[in-house]
Amino acid sequence: MSKKMKLAALLVAGGLVASLAACSTDDGGSGGGGGDAAAGGDCNVGISMPTRSLERWINDGEGLQSQLEEADCTVDLQYADNRTEQQISQIQNQVAGGATVLVVAAIDGQTLGPVLEEAKGQDVTVIAYDRLINGTPDVDYYATFDNYQVGQLQGQYIEEQLDLASGAGPFNLEPFAGSPDDNNARFFFEGAWDVLLPYVEAGQLVVPSGQSPASADDWAEIGILGWGSDDAQSEMDNRLSSFYTGDEKVDVVLSPNDSLALGIEASLSSAGYEPGTDWPIITGQDADVANVQAILNDEQSMTVWKDTRALGDRVFQMIQSIVAGDEVEVNDTETYDNGEKVVPSYLLDPEVVVKDDVQTKLVDSGFLSASDVGL
Ligand code: BGC
Repeated sequence: MSKKMKLAALLVAGGLVASLAACSTDDGGSGGGGGDAAAGGDCNVGISMPTRSLERWINDGEGLQSQLEEADCTVDLQYADNRTEQQISQIQNQVAGGATVLVVAAIDGQTLGPVLEEAKGQDVTVIAYDRLINGTPDVDYYATFDNYQVGQLQGQYIEEQLDLASGAGPFNLEPFAGSPDDNNARFFFEGAWDVLLPYVEAGQLVVPSGQSPASADDWAEIGILGWGSDDAQSEMDNRLSSFYTGDEKVDVVLSPNDSLALGIEASLSSAGYEPGTDWPIITGQDADVANVQAILNDEQSMTVWKDTRALGDRVFQMIQSIVAGDEVEVNDTETYDNGEKVVPSYLLDPEVVVKDDVQTKLVDSGFLSASDVGL
C-alpha cells in the first residue's frame, strides 16, 4: 500500500473522508511547516524538542518525525538548544506555519502558557511530550513514561543491592535530583525518596554532604538546573573534596538520569575511585550509549530504560486519532494536575537495565546496536 493509501485507509476508518484531501498534500519533510492548515483534519505537526545535546531527544524527535512523514503528514521538527525563549519562538513559527497538532517536550514546564494560548486561538491540539506543561488549560494530552515509577525503580534497586530491607547499613549515600524547571524531576525524586527516606531516617543510609532533603517536597534544593553533566560533576567534586576526607567513601549515588550519572562518574574517577574495588552503586535513566558503555565497564550499576520508540508510537497513535476526529486513548486521568486541569495522560512502563540485560533488552530489540556499545 502506498503512503497515501495507508493514510486514506486510516481516515476512511475514522469516518473523515473529507479530511483526506488536506492530509494528503504531499509537502512533507522537516522544516517546511507548510500544508493546507485551513482545511479540517489536516495532519500538520510541529514537534518542539528541548535540545540536541542529549541523545534521547534526538531519537525521540527524529523517530516521531519519520513515522509521521511515512503517513504523509507535514512535520516541522525543531530543537531549542535548552533555551526557553527559543522554544517559544519556534512554537510561534510552527503555529504561524499552519501546525494543527503540536508535540512539545518543554524546557521549562512553567513558561509556555502564553504561546499555547496563541496556539489554542488557532485550534491547535497540544500534546505534552514526556514532560508536563504546567499552569495552562491549553494542553490537551500528555504522553510519557510513568515518571514516579522511574524513581521508584532506582530506589528499589538501591534497596535491594544494599539489602536495606534486612537492616543492613550504614552506607554513605549521595542523592542528586534533576532540573528544578522540569516537572518530571519532582516525580523521579519522589519515587526514589519514598523508598529511600525511611532508611535515611533509620540511619541505614547516611548522607555525609548533608544534601539530603527532609522530605520529597524539598527535592529542588538538590536539583541540577538544566540536567548538565558538567554541573553534576562539579557538585560531586565539591561533595567529595569537602566531606570525604580520610577513609570516608561513597557507597551509593542516587542519580536521576544518565547525563548526571556521566558527570558523577567522571568526578569519582578523578577522585581515584576504581571500578571493581571501591566504585559506588550508581543509578541512571535513558540508556544513553555512553552510559550503557559505563554499565558494561562497571562504572554504572543500572539505567532505567524508556524505550523512546514506544513513546513515539503512542504519540503517533494520538495524532492519528486527533486527525481522524476519534477519541484519543489515555490510561491516566488522575495523576498529572498541571495547576489548571488534570491533563489526560498515557503512561508507559519504564524498565531496569543492568549489565546482563544490555544484549537481550537493548541490542536484541534494536534500540542500540552491538557496535554502538562495543559488544
Ligand atoms: C526526561 C529524561 C531526561 C531528562 C534530561 C527528563 O524530562 O524524562 O528522560 O533524562 O529530562 O533531558
